[in-house]
Amino acid sequence: MNAIETKIRAALSEAEGKLAAAVDAAAVEQVRIELLGRNGLFPALSREMGSIPAEERRATGALFNTGRTQIEAWMEAAKERLNAGAAKQAAAALDVTLPGRRTGCGHKHPVSIITDECVAIFRRMGFIVAEGPEIETVYYNFDALNAPEDHPSRDPQDTFYFGDGRILRSQTSPVQVRVMESHQPPVRIVAPGRVFRRDTPDATHGMNFHQIEGLSIDKGVSMADLKSVLQRFATEMFGEKVKIRLRPHFFPFTEPSVEYDFSCVMCGGAGCPVCKHSGWIEIAGAGMVDPNVLKNVGYDPEIYSGYAFGMGLERLAMLRYRIGDLRYLYENDVRFLEQF
Ligand code: PHE
Repeated sequence: MNAIETKIRAALSEAEGKLAAAVDAAAVEQVRIELLGRNGLFPALSREMGSIPAEERRATGALFNTGRTQIEAWMEAAKERLNAGAAKQAAAALDVTLPGRRTGCGHKHPVSIITDECVAIFRRMGFIVAEGPEIETVYYNFDALNAPEDHPSRDPQDTFYFGDGRILRSQTSPVQVRVMESHQPPVRIVAPGRVFRRDTPDATHGMNFHQIEGLSIDKGVSMADLKSVLQRFATEMFGEKVKIRLRPHFFPFTEPSVEYDFSCVMCGGAGCPVCKHSGWIEIAGAGMVDPNVLKNVGYDPEIYSGYAFGMGLERLAMLRYRIGDLRYLYENDVRFLEQF
């Protein structure tokens, strides 16, 4: 065996091992470059061919050719093996017979459902929806609403102050002022939205909750209109059997002011733990808009009058869905939320 044949045989046995063990296409390519590439072993040997005796050249040439063909065949086999492995892996990762993975489909939160229902009821009675900012000024939240300087609701214990004249609104009533400032009467709006108070959260109180404000201003609007609108609302929301009751109250921005109770939806008025055995549940504050508020927005109280009301939406949701604790609404427990 001459020197060239020795090198070919050595290269063949090395290549066979390397290609059998190749784990990726790069390893196969590396063998090709080393042996068959332009600067690889085989082209180099081909140039050395002239140095061997003429009578050996035929046999050496044959070995050279079969060797190269053999290497190419092993490379092909290695590539096929690698491709098959990759395809198998992909097939294992994707089992097309498995049922699809469902992504949960979200739906409306109970407070949103109630809000939408309230809005729909009031729209049928001719109200349109208005909005105001959640970050309000002391002026809109208190001053323009005729709240005296020493009114308890102004206390920083009750209202969140930013310290620069801005606050988180503690009620939706400032929307009344904003709407009246920018519109001439007649005005007939409802304004649902989030409000903030520094309460300690418990079964019936949260630090932020939702209200829906109502305002109707025109010539000759009276308390009787307020009563009929809220009676209609109660019936639409809770059915024919529900009764309403007005109790005298005080709000700085209405005169006279009332609080509205609905007969307890849970016990039908007979008395139960939810209504604290009174048969009634407090739902809203309301009253005739105070002449001072009308003056603050440039309306003439001698010509125009109207009523306003504000209701807690969580309260309504709790009654409607018989939820015993307000905190359930905001714990985001899917087992709870899925029920609506
Ligand atoms: N803003 C009052 C509250 O949050 C409710 C209210 C609204 C009362 C409109 C009268 C008129 O308690």
